[in-house]
Amino acid sequence: MILILLFLLFAPVSTLYQSYGVRGQFSCGESLAKGLTVKLYDLDRYSHENDLLDEGVTDGFGNFTLSGGTAELTRIEPMLEVIHDCNDGGKVGNRKSKFLLPQMYITYGTKALKTYEIGNVNLETIFLSEDRDYSDETVQKSSENPHEI
Ligand SMILES: *[C@@H]1O[C@H](CO)[C@@H](O)[C@H](O)[C@H]1NC(C)=O
Repeated sequence: MILILLFLLFAPVSTLYQSYGVRGQFSCGESLAKGLTVKLYDLDRYSHENDLLDEGVTDGFGNFTLSGGTAELTRIEPMLEVIHDCNDGGKVGNRKSKFLLPQMYITYGTKALKTYEIGNVNLETIFLSEDRDYSDETVQKSSENPHEI
C-alpha cells in the first residue's frame, strides 16, 4: 500500500504522456474531399485552448492519417476537426466539423500503437454543433447543389 502511494507520488510525468492515431476518408456526396485541412486536438474543456497534436491535408482520395501526443494529468480527449465547404450553400467562410474520438484508442507513451479508423465520412452531414473558419477562402467548393441550411 505504502509502495503504491509512493509510486503514485513520484511517478515521472512521462508516464502520463498519451498518444493517439486516427485515419479515415472524407467525401462530399459523390466527390472525394481532396486537400482539406484536418487537425487532431486534445480537447481542453477548462482552458479553451485545445492542444494541437497533429495536422495534415487529405490526399487525392480524401484520405488522411494523423497521430501525435501530449502529456496530461488526466486522460486526453482526442478531437478531430476538418475545415471544408461541403454543403455550405456558398456562404462566406468554411465549415469546421468536429468529432470526439473514442478514448479506448489512447496509447500511454510517445508512440500511438493503435489507430482509430473513422472510415468514410460524407461531409454533407450537418452536425448539431459547428464552428466556422474564415482563414481560407480557397477550400474546395465541391457541392454542386448546396442545400440552404
Ligand atoms: C482511404 O480510407 C478508407 C477509409 O479509411 C480506406 O478504406 C481506403 O482503403 C483508403 N484508401 C487509400 C487509397 O488509402
